[in-house]
Amino acid sequence: MKHLIESQQFNQKSINKIFALADKLEKKTDKSLKGKIMASLFYEPSTRTRFSFESAMLRLGGSVITTENAKEFSSAAKGETLEDSIRVINNYVDVIVLRHYEQGASQRASVVSDVPVINAGDGPGQHPTQALLDLYTIKRELNKIDGIQIALVGDLKHGRTIRSLSYLLGKYKNIKIYFVSPLGLGVGTDIKEYLDKHKISYYETDLLEEIISKIDVLYQTRIQKERFKDEQEYLKFKGCYQIDLSLVSRMKAKSIIMHPLPRIDEILMEVDSSPKSVYFKQAKYGLLVRMALLKMLIKKH
Ligand code: CP
Repeated sequence: MKHLIESQQFNQKSINKIFALADKLEKKTDKSLKGKIMASLFYEPSTRTRFSFESAMLRLGGSVITTENAKEFSSAAKGETLEDSIRVINNYVDVIVLRHYEQGASQRASVVSDVPVINAGDGPGQHPTQALLDLYTIKRELNKIDGIQIALVGDLKHGRTIRSLSYLLGKYKNIKIYFVSPLGLGVGTDIKEYLDKHKISYYETDLLEEIISKIDVLYQTRIQKERFKDEQEYLKFKGCYQIDLSLVSRMKAKSIIMHPLPRIDEILMEVDSSPKSVYFKQAKYGLLVRMALLKMLIKKH
């Protein structure tokens, strides 16, 4: 693996290797990236992905250069192409973590980059490092991945975390996915075709109540306001699924509630104190997974 662009790149063996390293890095100080530099090049807003990557690099002894609003604060504002920016940044760093508003931007960047490019979210495309940390969370919290029943809930049309996670789940056995979305925000045919090909069972519904008692994982997502053409259209869907304690009480005893965050109104704050709620832990696990990824990618380069 030179660049990390999409979930389809991984198999169970490579995922296990990342998770084993993440486990190890939790227990032991590692400064093996001393002298290496990471660029975090973010054209879209972020809290978790940018800070966790930067923290991961610093914890591994490396250094970070960063632009948090590259659309405005890099030479993109003067009309420089992404490709030219990547070629130039190649002279300064050992890895580039890229978040961009266009689907396929990381792929384009990887073509002109000698240093590893990590896709930190490309528009409505993919967010593969989020999917890896999601899977790591499931493994840590449920002690298994094979055989789980998971509900992916919310804006499945625009959600890149949903896309990347579905592709990763397609690599495991006896998984059942419930796609829960309002009419008009359903999951794309690309994902369904992929799951059909990998013989993963899935079911589509707009009724969360219908399946709430069957699932091991409730993966809630927000309605992606920034992907709608106008606010009125977004407002039609805002608040369509809200997890409250009454709904949580109908879940299996050992089930968990996840969310890639940020949360808007789709999980009520009363749910935060439930032992099932692991979304803040999930963000913490992200640090370990991203440390493992940086160590693996930079070492190979
Ligand atoms: N989950 C996620 O990608 O969060 P940020 O947009 O804050 O990075």
